[in-house]
Amino acid sequence: MKILVTGGAGFIGSNFVRHIYRERPDWHITVFDALTYAGNLENIAGLDESRVAFIHANICDEAAIDAAVADCDAVIHFAAESHNDNSLHNPYPFIETNILGTFRILEAVRKYNKRLHHISTDEVYGDLELDDPAKFTPDTPYNPSSPYSSSKAASDLLVRAWVRSFGVQATLSNCSNNYGPYQHVEKVIPRQITNLLSGQKLKLYGSGQNVRDWIHTEDHSSGVLAILERGVMGETYLIGSDGEKSNLEVFKLILELMGKDESWLEHVNDRPGHDLRYAIDASKLRTELGWQPTYTDFREGLQATIDWYTQNQAWWQPQKDETEAKYKELGR
Ligand code: NAD
Ligand code: DAU
Repeated sequence: MKILVTGGAGFIGSNFVRHIYRERPDWHITVFDALTYAGNLENIAGLDESRVAFIHANICDEAAIDAAVADCDAVIHFAAESHNDNSLHNPYPFIETNILGTFRILEAVRKYNKRLHHISTDEVYGDLELDDPAKFTPDTPYNPSSPYSSSKAASDLLVRAWVRSFGVQATLSNCSNNYGPYQHVEKVIPRQITNLLSGQKLKLYGSGQNVRDWIHTEDHSSGVLAILERGVMGETYLIGSDGEKSNLEVFKLILELMGKDESWLEHVNDRPGHDLRYAIDASKLRTELGWQPTYTDFREGLQATIDWYTQNQAWWQPQKDETEAKYKELGR
């Protein structure tokens, strides 16, 4: 099996590459990545070059995608602009990569009749009230809020249309908030951990009542592998591990695990259009494909993540100042 992993030098993509490298030793992996500010070859360093190849190119580059897709059995499409705050500041790269880039991949898998798995997000469903007993299911209507989530929603709809109109062999997954090693310091958990490691305060948007449904990135990887191997063509699977927590709860746990009191917590400007709550019902993936998450103890997973950032300062330090300068401009 030869797989092409777009965005494989980013956070979730690189964790997926390492997961496959470990779990499927007879597979060959080609990482296809433009190495934007979010991509880093160190994320996939140390892997045997006879098993992992790298193509430095943009998914919007028709010729590059065409050649790479022709040379694989299946594409797992992670590449995206992924950060909401950036999309509020400058939406254009989100339109280009997430929509046009996905279109290029769809045209290539159609031409060469290759299997595609498209990676998406629970944010396409909009948000839930705090006291809503419902969770997102594959039948929840799309209702995205931000330029990021609407561009991901557009990409999902393109995939669904290519399945129906052209018989493209594709599956889709929509996952909740991931955490774990190799996540860029712009995202909430690494930002707060590295703030404390740099002697800065935690930056909490608004009141902190917003809820995210946390899943360890290893569990996202095992979910994607289950869909790749056993998923039904054309189907959408939601990936989540019942990890709902308010931001305030997460911030307090970071403070506790890092031995700091609440004087280290600062409330900053809220994100415009800030989604209130996400929650995933993953029962389809569990019952139909037999998937189960492994890393369900959030406290333990967070401690391991804190340890990883503490031990890997050389990895995140080069991103930190530029990221905080961007946030300063946004007043967050
Ligand atoms: P990330 O920003 O850490 O990584 C994105 C990767 O894609 C980087 O390596 C970057 O260089 C690459 N890339 C960006 N534009 C590209 C282009 N035009 N051509 C080629 N490569 C390009 O993102 P992430 O958090 O790892 O997210 C990966 C995927 O998972 C995205 O599709 C995202 O929507 C989805 N997702 C993320 C989360 C989450 O919590 N982070 C949750 C659910 C779904
Ligand atoms: O739900 C899946 C999505 O999760 C993915 O599709 C996105 O790619 C990923 O970035 C993530 O989106 P969020 O917007 O939920 O993640 P972020 O880490 O930016 O923020 C998580 C929550 O924390 C959100 O309510 C905003 C808040 N926040 C964020 C930052 C960066 C803070 O309170 N302080 C911060 O400094």
